[in-house]
Amino acid sequence: MLFQYMCISGLMKTLTVELGERSYPIFIGHGLLDEQALLTKHVHGRQVMVVTNETIAPLYLDKVREIFSAFELATVILPDGEQYKNLDTLNLIFNALLENKFNRGCTLVALGGGVVGDITGFAAASYQRGVAFLQIPTTLLAQVDSSVGGKTGVNHPQGKNMIGAFHQPGCVLIDTNTLDTLDDRQLAAGLAEVIKYGLIRDAAFFDWLEKNIGLLKARDKQALAWAIERSCALKAEIVAADERESGQRALLNFGHTFGHAIETGTGYGAWLHGEAVATGMLMAADLSARHGWLSDEAVTRTEKLLQQASLPTCPPDEMDAARFLELMAVDKKVVDGGLRLVLLRAVGDAFLSSDFDADLLDKTLAAA
Ligand code: NAD
Ligand code: GLY
Repeated sequence: MLFQYMCISGLMKTLTVELGERSYPIFIGHGLLDEQALLTKHVHGRQVMVVTNETIAPLYLDKVREIFSAFELATVILPDGEQYKNLDTLNLIFNALLENKFNRGCTLVALGGGVVGDITGFAAASYQRGVAFLQIPTTLLAQVDSSVGGKTGVNHPQGKNMIGAFHQPGCVLIDTNTLDTLDDRQLAAGLAEVIKYGLIRDAAFFDWLEKNIGLLKARDKQALAWAIERSCALKAEIVAADERESGQRALLNFGHTFGHAIETGTGYGAWLHGEAVATGMLMAADLSARHGWLSDEAVTRTEKLLQQASLPTCPPDEMDAARFLELMAVDKKVVDGGLRLVLLRAVGDAFLSSDFDADLLDKTLAAA
């Protein structure tokens, strides 16, 4: 469901993630951090803790503190980086909650990219067996993917996102102006997840991305706003149909099994999540084509769009086939010892398969 109306800062779109009594809105617009009530009306208790990191704090923390100035307010500033998405950092949030005597009625606010969002969401899922949280995503990747859908968690040295919980936010507020301070590499990483939606579910959106990739890279506000809105709508639809990933939600992991292996294998942070997913998507497309399930033309289009988005399409040298297989065996989509992969029949048509040919997988890994 989509609503749009004018607010102080201009046109705002509202999507809803339909989950019955746990449904929540996604607000999308330029300058939405000036719309205090969008956030405050989703806080039910008196205590608010804003969690952010040392890079984002100087940019947006004052503004967000002002929004919650009428509440009993505390702040936690985490170190910045995927390598800190771990249990030690999570504990910093628990320490602050306990030191400030925060109770079960408190609300956590995640101000940042996917790392801050995932870790804050997991803190909210587990503090006193679950408290409320709100998402203010500030990277493109977090705005189109990680802030929506309630997957929260931290990494383990042996595997990406291995410790976590499903816990939905009370709302997601996307102020697209926050992208003004994001660097080009991070913007490209977010485009990887945008391209993913076209590949798995929406061929017309993929066509649109092919035509508008130049505008997106040039940060055209309207093009970015549409890419964010369409991505969130597709994600909301999938999450509403399969919140706990017993079926179609797994398609959102297209490219992630290969990508997570790259992230874990290179040490968290060396490759950005979106970069690893981009390379992983091309590897999954390649494997689909080797089975005759996907045309070579679709693989070429995928590679071209990823390259136009300034994303890597080859894994790093240290990731040989043996290392990929070792790390892919720890993937969350492994069921009863068997690896399941998201593959493509066409642009816009993904499916989950454990019925792929292991020799062809070896060929994809050797060729990459
Ligand atoms: P990130 O959170 O590390 O942010 C990237 C960098 O940008 C960081 O240095 C951050 O401090 C900085 N930054 C954030 N906003 C900024 C802004 N507006 N201006 C300037 N700098 C800014 O990385 P990410 O790409 O946002 O998220 C990646 C994480 O998200 C991974 O851990 C991944 O596993 C997770 N993820 C989760 C889901 C989910 O469904 N929960 C989905 C996709 C990805
Ligand atoms: N990013 C994958 C998911 O939310 O399911």
